[in-house]
Order: sequence, then structure tokens, then C-alpha cells
Amino acid sequence: MNQALRTDLQVVTAVTHWTDRLFSFRVTRPRSLRFRSGEFVMLGLPGADGRPLLRAYSIASPAWDDELEFYSIKVPDGPLTSKLQHVRPGDPVILRPKPVGTLVLDALRPGWRLWLLATGTGFAPFASLLRDPATWEGYRRVVVMHACRTAAELAYGRQVICGLKSDPLIGGMVGERLHYHPTTTRETSPRMGRITDLLASGRVFAELRQPGPLAPETDRVMVCGSLAFNRDMAALLDGWGLREGSNAAPGDYVVEKAFVG
Ligand code: A2P
Repeated sequence: MNQALRTDLQVVTAVTHWTDRLFSFRVTRPRSLRFRSGEFVMLGLPGADGRPLLRAYSIASPAWDDELEFYSIKVPDGPLTSKLQHVRPGDPVILRPKPVGTLVLDALRPGWRLWLLATGTGFAPFASLLRDPATWEGYRRVVVMHACRTAAELAYGRQVICGLKSDPLIGGMVGERLHYHPTTTRETSPRMGRITDLLASGRVFAELRQPGPLAPETDRVMVCGSLAFNRDMAALLDGWGLREGSNAAPGDYVVEKAFVG
């Protein structure tokens, strides 16, 4: 094993299997690693040829956590996740400690209401952002919409949301300012529908008793999901007059792909 690979090794400390398609895992954190909530790192395993097989993974844990948490899909024939899904506590993983990404508070102009819109494993960066005091200091309202195929696939996100009010750091700030709107699209559940449809039809504003639609004067948005979801969501937001932002030029919304494979 070469020197670069050895210094990037971290150790798995816990693994939770949520469904046959989803799991989360925790790894030791390099002492030098600082990140902004919402950023991702390259993580993986040695490939068959000995070279690192890495994918971009959003950090799901809060910045103050001693360990790092990740939330992943299992793709049966995916080059990385077909192997990564079998890791156990004590196993090594490769982690490049260079966090980057656009789903950061710095890439948004100040606003009144923050929308965190995720499909599937796109919830991961929001799990970190929701536990960052800066999110609650920056916005009066935080609306989380999470759409998955089935109710079981919402469980990871629900656990994070349920923990917020008792979180020692931000619990006191959350109060009635959090609005959580989970939906399924391929299984009957109390709330159903695609995020794009719920926003375009205005149904979500009625259900959450929130003013709508979104407006550039008040709303900021983070979007994380499949390519198709991100594209359709960006078109909807553009139509309401919101402008895409970046680290270099903060705007009204930011978009990032939830990584798979
Ligand atoms: P649907 O079941 O109607 O396709 P996946 O598991 O395939 O990554 O999908 C996660 C969630 O994202 C599903 O609920 C899926 O809805 C939804 N989704 C996929 N594409 C879009 C899109 N273009 N706009 C809105 N939601 C989408």
C-alpha cells in the first residue's frame, strides 16, 4: 500500500442498515479535518487493481461530532457500494480529507425562510446543516421536504429530524420554526407526492400553513437529489425568480447531485 493511501485510512465505528437499499455508517475523523456543514469528501475502498475506488459522499454528521457519518445507497452492481455495504466496525475505508461543495450557507444570500429539498440519499448534507447553529441563527423558518419511494426509506431522515428538539446545541433554537414534510411516491402513506408537484400545485403551502409560492425576497433553497429532480427543481425556482448561487457569488438557491454508485 502506498504512503498516500495509508495516511488517508480511517476506521469504521458503526454501521446501520435502514433498508435493503440504504445504510449509514460512521468512521473515525482525521484530527485535522474541518468542514462546513453541507460539504462532501471523497470516500471509498481499495479497488481490485489496488488503486482507490472513491465516490463523493456528503458528510451527514454535524461539525462538532468526533466522528464522521455518511448515508449511502446500496447499488447491487455498483463498483463501490456493492462492497462498501458490507463494511463492519473495525474495517478501514479511504477518506480524502478535502471537503468541498455548494450546499453551504455561505452560498446563499440572507433570507427569512430556508427550504431543504431532498430525494433519497440527498438528505445527507441536510442532516449536517440541520444540526448547525448557523442554520437556525440565519433563518426564522426551516422547511424540510424529503421524498422517497417508500416509507421505510424515510427512516434515516425522520430519526435526524426527531432528534433536533432534544439536541443540546440547537434544541432550544428549533421550537416551532421547523416544518418537516416527508412524502412517499410509490407506497401509500399519510403524505404522498413528488416535491416538484407539491410545490408547483401549492399543496405543500396549504398543508404546512406556510405562505407560498417561494419568492426571491424571502426564500432560500438547497436542492439535493437525482439529476432529474435537481433539473426540474431548478426550473421551478427559476420560474419564481430565484437565482442560483455559488461559493463565489451567493444567490437564492444551490443545487448538488446526491451521489450514487
Ligand atoms: P418517483 O417514485 O415518482 O420516481 P430514486 O429512489 O429513484 O432516487 O427516487 C427518489 C425519489 O425522487 C422518488 O420519490 C422519486 O419519485 C423522486 N423523483 C425522481 N425524479 C424526480 C423528478 N424529476 N422530480 C421530482 N421527484 C423525482
